[in-house]
Amino acid sequence: MRDMQSFGQNIWTVSGDDVRMYAVLPFTTRMTVVRLESGGVWLHSPVRPTPECQRAVDLLGPVEHLVAPNKIHSLGITPWKALYPSARVWASPAFNKRHPDIAVDTLLTNDIEAPWSGEIDHCVIDGHAVLDEVWFLHKASKTLIVTDLIQKHEAAGESWLWRGVKGMAGVLGEDGGVPLDIKLSVRNKVAMRRGIETVLAWDFDNLIVAHGHCLQGGAKEDVRRAFDWITDA
Ligand SMILES: [Fe+2]
Repeated sequence: MRDMQSFGQNIWTVSGDDVRMYAVLPFTTRMTVVRLESGGVWLHSPVRPTPECQRAVDLLGPVEHLVAPNKIHSLGITPWKALYPSARVWASPAFNKRHPDIAVDTLLTNDIEAPWSGEIDHCVIDGHAVLDEVWFLHKASKTLIVTDLIQKHEAAGESWLWRGVKGMAGVLGEDGGVPLDIKLSVRNKVAMRRGIETVLAWDFDNLIVAHGHCLQGGAKEDVRRAFDWITDA
């Protein structure tokens, strides 16, 4: 059962299936749901829809937008598109290269204007060798929505082995931050710093991450801390 949980005004989260990164590392997953002023629904990093999940989303309004925030988070795009054929698919800059089989309406760049742009800001966090992540700000609830660049995996229920691995990678618990493997594979620190500084100028207090603990309050300080290795560079 995947309960939809309110996160703030017109914003909810839904847990998805657990997945395995690198075939072994257990990850919980999370979708973010925003109800737009139009009454339409915007789904970020959609998890695989179940009948309960679809019913809960349907109660909010018609799904108008499906967002793949980086090229790894593709899982729910196709099944949600099958349920809502008129939904528009937005994806990260390099998404098409990895998923040529998934039809994308618009690749996200910093200068595109979307129908949801008045309510949701977006910024491409450039500079990583592989990951092409886009971050979003839901302005009404002052919530920053991040996918993989910050992770805060829950310790409860994890084996000692995975707690140890995630602790060493810097992604365990509420203090988790940028995964070590991502830090080690940044290609252009200046470009990444530019993106982070853009986001730090946004007005937000709360943080939703795709993997692990979310934050109600204190999010800006948390993001600044998570990226102090690059903003101080
Ligand atoms: Fe992820």
